[in-house]
Amino acid sequence: MSNIKVELKKSHVDKIKAICKSFDNRSGELINVLHKIQGTFGYLPAEVQEVVARELNVPVAKVYGVVTFYSFFSMLPKGKYPVSICTGTACYVRGAENVLEEFKKVLDIDVGETTADGMFSISCLRCVGACGLAPVVIVGDKTYGRVAPEMVQDIIQEYREKEE
Ligand code: FES
Repeated sequence: MSNIKVELKKSHVDKIKAICKSFDNRSGELINVLHKIQGTFGYLPAEVQEVVARELNVPVAKVYGVVTFYSFFSMLPKGKYPVSICTGTACYVRGAENVLEEFKKVLDIDVGETTADGMFSISCLRCVGACGLAPVVIVGDKTYGRVAPEMVQDIIQEYREKEE
């Protein structure tokens, strides 16, 4: 797990507290609370988890356990261009796994990780509703259909060039 230290601004702490409060600070709402906070901040670093634990009156270890158990929670910030590979059935059948492997190889990171330059991160999604275009990859807000492993290098290059 990462050791990145995150400085939480007071406004962030207030926002987290407000989200907890909107669920009546109920410990049974932990997953929903974390979901909402990740939707707001993008990820759930240890410092955020500590505030949630305090507010919902649950052990920090429990919050950590939930965050690490569910793959849709992340403790690391996403890349500037998050790469999401659909691994729903249609995409899987048409080779999403090979596409995912190629992204991992080209970017030299695993699912849930971010490249050292902060440009790309990889995550997997369930069916994004574009099965006719399987296998589907989303980078930022752009969707790529019928992606083959041979296209991965070009897709990444497109964003690297944008940054130059
Ligand atoms: S399974 Fe990938 S879009 Fe439906």
